[in-house]
This record gives sequence, C-alpha cells and structure tokens, in this order.
Amino acid sequence: MLVACVSGSPRKGENSERIVEKARGFFTENGFTCETILLSGTTITPCINCNYCKTKHRCGQDEEANRVNDILSGADGILLVSPVYFGGISGQLKCLMDKTLPLRRDGMRLKGKIGAAIAVGNSRNGGQELAVKDAHAWMLIHGMVIVGDNSHFGGTVRNPFEEDGPGGETVKGTLEAMKSLLLRVGPSGKVTRDE
Ligand SMILES: Cc1cc2nc3c(=O)[nH]c(=O)nc-3n(C[C@H](O)[C@H](O)[C@H](O)COP(=O)(O)O)c2cc1C
Repeated sequence: MLVACVSGSPRKGENSERIVEKARGFFTENGFTCETILLSGTTITPCINCNYCKTKHRCGQDEEANRVNDILSGADGILLVSPVYFGGISGQLKCLMDKTLPLRRDGMRLKGKIGAAIAVGNSRNGGQELAVKDAHAWMLIHGMVIVGDNSHFGGTVRNPFEEDGPGGETVKGTLEAMKSLLLRVGPSGKVTRDE
C-alpha cells in the first residue's frame, strides 16, 4: 500500500520536511511504499477558479499540481504535515489543497482514503490544532476517512520537533493510527467510488 506524505513548508530541511522524513522511515519499515511531496520544491500557485477542471478533470494552469494529484490519487493514505501560519496551515499547502479540486470533480478520487495531519509551530499553543482542523476539512470534503493520534486530533508539535517530547508522542500516535487503520481497511482500490 502507498502512503503519500506531504510537507507544506517552503523551507527545505526544516521541521515539516524532517517529520515527513520520519514518517517515510516509519511507513517503509512497516512494509508500505511511501512517496514524499515537499512543497519547498514546487511552485504551486493559487487556484483561479477558471473551471477548466470541471470538464477536463485536470488543472489547466499547473502541471506541477497535476503531477502531485497523480500521486495523491494513487495513494491509500495521505499524511499532511504543515507549519502553523497565523493559526492555520501554510499558504503553500492551501494552494495545493485548492488545486486538488480536479480530483473531486473526477468522481471523488480521494474518497475512502485514510488521512491524518500534523502541524508544527513555534509556540506551545500556537494554533497547531486549528491547522490540523484545516487539513481535516480538506480531507472530509474529499470524502476521506480521518484518524487522529489515538487520543486527540493528530500531531501537534513545537519547533524544533525533535526536542518536543509530548508533541513527539502525538506524531508517533498519528503514524501508528494511520498504519493500523490502513492495515485493517486494505488498499483503497477496493473502495467503491461514486462515478
Ligand atoms: C507567516 C508566519 C506565521 C506564523 N504563525 C505562527 C503561529 O500562528 N503559531 C505558531 O506557533 N508559529 C507560527 N509561525 C512559526 C512557524 O510555524 C514555525 O517557524 C514552524 O517551525 C515552521 O515550520 P517549518 O519549520 O516546517 O518551516 C509562523 C511563521 C510564519 C512565517
């Protein structure tokens, strides 16, 4: 089974990317295939509501977004990792989320996939849970199934995440929760999608 792990940070090698790397190690060790998507390496721009995707089911503006969408639609699980920006997700991640509209318009291609989210901020209570809820809203609107960290909403950590003991536990819990539900549900190819 394939898990796609997305970092929503524009910064190379910083917390979100290191968390994605940790997730990649975790899923690989547990027998999954893992694709990482680092938005620091992309130039995905905001959706302009041109409605090209309404009939074509691809973004007419952004081949980079189409490339990422192909990965997401082939995944069984999707992990979103975002920096907290003003109590929400990063603009980079929001740009990607909006450009997944073609997947929704193409028979709900993300429906039934298992999703989870992790947010990292500078402050102890800087809005991590709110950023996680932003990610959850995107997942719910795609018809995905959400897991938290087997206790609360998902991963909520403070920069630098390696030094945040309690936050690190929420990251571990989130990865474990994704793993166990993926193993119970099996490949999302078996889920019947609305056409
Ligand atoms: C525009 C902006 C807004 C931010 N807002 C918040 C915030 O509301 N709460 C918080 O805890 N940290 C905030 N931060 C700090 C980042 O969340 C923090 O640097 C985090 O580590 C960034 O993720 P990264 O290390 O993966 O790039 C903000 C940073 C920027 C650039």
